[in-house]
Amino acid sequence: IFDASSDFHDVIRTIPDYPKPGIMFRDITTLLASPEAFRSAVDTMVAPYRSEGVALVAGIEARGFILGGAMSHQLAAGFVPIRKKGKLPHETIRVAYSLEYGVDEMEVHRDAVAPGTRVLLTDDLIATGGTAEAAVKLLRELGAEIVGACFVIDLPELGGRRKLEAMGVSVKTLVAFDGH
Ligand code: PRP
Ligand code: MG
Repeated sequence: IFDASSDFHDVIRTIPDYPKPGIMFRDITTLLASPEAFRSAVDTMVAPYRSEGVALVAGIEARGFILGGAMSHQLAAGFVPIRKKGKLPHETIRVAYSLEYGVDEMEVHRDAVAPGTRVLLTDDLIATGGTAEAAVKLLRELGAEIVGACFVIDLPELGGRRKLEAMGVSVKTLVAFDGH
């Protein structure tokens, strides 16, 4: 039986020096490939939000789509993709962000969220929080009420959780890794 208190750590693979030297890449493909771990992760992530009236789950490209789609189904909510620039076909709003390794822009359809909609944000991992911060800005610009943000992995040394909490977003994560 899958023991959520210890086993999430063990089903996440670490690849040293990817995509560049000094980065310990936390790879969730091993978690996703495990029927028990994937189900347990999704169930654990949605549990605190079952009675929160979540109308939409917003997932961050690319790995947030995998979790967010499953979470939307479990919550009987809709799904909104937050994408890297140039991928969405309709009118968008856009925000620049910096991440652990690089700079990019993220966007969302302008009509994706009606003002006042209760939205749960998700992604696989929060590191510096730059990516999630950009997503929060986009959702708030559309008038979303952000119920919370949840991630499989927290890298606490990089401060992303504190950054989101300072923006008034409550953060939940399944497992934390330090830098080594
Ligand atoms: C990774 C990860 C998060 C983000 C976290 O995504 O999946 O989305 O970085 O970093 P941050 O908290 O420092 O912003 P990546 O940009 O590698 O893209 P991908 O999910 O499309 O592979
Ligand atoms: Mg990502």
